[in-house]
Amino acid sequence: MTAADVHSTPDTDEMVLVHRLFRREYRAAAALVSGVPAGDTGRSRTVAAHLAALGRMLEEHHLAEDELVWPRLAADPAVDPAMVRRMERQHERIAAALHRLDEAVPRWGRTADPVQREAVADACAALLPPLDEHLADEEEHVLPLVPDRFTAAQWAVLSERGRAAVPKAHRLYMLGALSAAAGPSGQARFLARLPVPVRLLWRVAGARLHRRATEELHGTRPPGRARATAK
Ligand SMILES: [Fe+2]
Repeated sequence: MTAADVHSTPDTDEMVLVHRLFRREYRAAAALVSGVPAGDTGRSRTVAAHLAALGRMLEEHHLAEDELVWPRLAADPAVDPAMVRRMERQHERIAAALHRLDEAVPRWGRTADPVQREAVADACAALLPPLDEHLADEEEHVLPLVPDRFTAAQWAVLSERGRAAVPKAHRLYMLGALSAAAGPSGQARFLARLPVPVRLLWRVAGARLHRRATEELHGTRPPGRARATAK
């Protein structure tokens, strides 16, 4: 499969993959937060930065849909207006849950205070039900409407905005998380979406680089290995 094949029709599969990344990362986040020892500000800063990056990505993912998807569907008489309103309400609930998380994360990141840690873990857990509900609903009821209503180029704007929203320092980790979300059967399609230089780099060193980024996020990287494996 080539990049041209991937982009000849609206690539709604990529959105499914991004949804999977959000589900996996937020599901893992509560345990990741709870595992940070009280007072370990090095770890709390690392995990807080990861949550801030995820929050920025989810916020932009939804903002792009609010601006580019719902208005087009709402203007289409063949689309059930109640479904569009439901999507908008789901986004509002997720935005409220994300706001709660965004407020708790920086405080805990700075202090590694155990009470604030629980507030962050609780806020992560509270985000999951509305997120799961919305993503499944969108995949079932919105994505099938896309090929008849968006050109590949119009739909690609959502992907471009999504990619641009990933903070630079988190791109490698998120690329690996996307690859993991794609699974073995989705690797060819995952690779076909990457710009050629990134694809080449990923083929040569992607798994190793992502493993390193994951170990850093989880604090399982033995001290002194950074230089040896970076070669
Ligand atoms: Fe989406």
